[in-house]
Amino acid sequence: MSKGVLVVVGTGIQVTTHMTAQAESVIRQADKVFYTIPDQLGDAWMQALNPTAESLSSLYKGHKRRLDTYQLMVEHIVTAVRLGLNVCAVFYGHPGVFVLPAHEAIKQARAEGFRAWMCPGISAEDCLFADLNIDPATYGCQSYEATDFLITHPQIDTSSHLIVWQIGAVGNMQEPHKRKEQGLQILTEVLQHHYPPRHLVTVYEASPLPRYSPRIQTLPLHQLPQAAVSSLSTLYVPPCHKKSPDYAMMARLGIDPKDVMKDW
Ligand SMILES: C[S@@+](CC[C@H](N)C(=O)[O-])C[C@H]1O[C@@H](n2cnc3c(N)ncnc32)[C@H](O)[C@@H]1O
Repeated sequence: MSKGVLVVVGTGIQVTTHMTAQAESVIRQADKVFYTIPDQLGDAWMQALNPTAESLSSLYKGHKRRLDTYQLMVEHIVTAVRLGLNVCAVFYGHPGVFVLPAHEAIKQARAEGFRAWMCPGISAEDCLFADLNIDPATYGCQSYEATDFLITHPQIDTSSHLIVWQIGAVGNMQEPHKRKEQGLQILTEVLQHHYPPRHLVTVYEASPLPRYSPRIQTLPLHQLPQAAVSSLSTLYVPPCHKKSPDYAMMARLGIDPKDVMKDW
């Protein structure tokens, strides 16, 4: 029997146009494909690429803890690898960005002695940089999952860009994702410890379909609980002040201050 292999790939956000040539080739060549993709267009696309494609979305049924669902997914995927198959697991966006079961399946397969690796994909954050015209290299960029942000109190640098994921499911540790009204309210309160209430923030949704515009709603932070938020929404908070450069360090590094990038 041949030794099983696992390759984890991403669809990108627009499944039919963002998928990389590498991901498509891996899907086509797999003996068995598992996938979780949020729309029906994705189902048809997966079937067209590889008729063995099987959706894992039924594992979300029954209001389980999210971590239990993820464990079931890992078990499903690695069981096929144990059978000696060349397995491809497909996740939405970049498969390694906010996708715990993708990382866990690779760890589990490797721990059992199988070859396993991941191909990168286009994430929601990549689309956000493009649609909102933001470069993470300018001011730096922090990125957090909303619930994790609230329960771990990371140090926020308010002179950097801040991206908060899963604002449509703050405090919800179960599947299917249900919006908890008070979650967004609490997130807004906590953000107001760091940013002024009138600081403009953006609720962002990249279009999952080609030729459609992204949904971009910019509003004062204190009005965030009234924003139209879905399971696809990501929050972008721009910096609220500028860092001043360390001129002594520039001198030590031999940098001419005129060479340091300015705002255009
Ligand atoms: C489980 S994570 C999956 C992220 C995905 N792997 C990626 O690479 O973007 C789900 C979260 O990603 C973000 N997201 C997913 N689709 C999005 C979209 N179309 N526009 C903006 N953010 C999106 C939202 O914050 C959502 O709650």
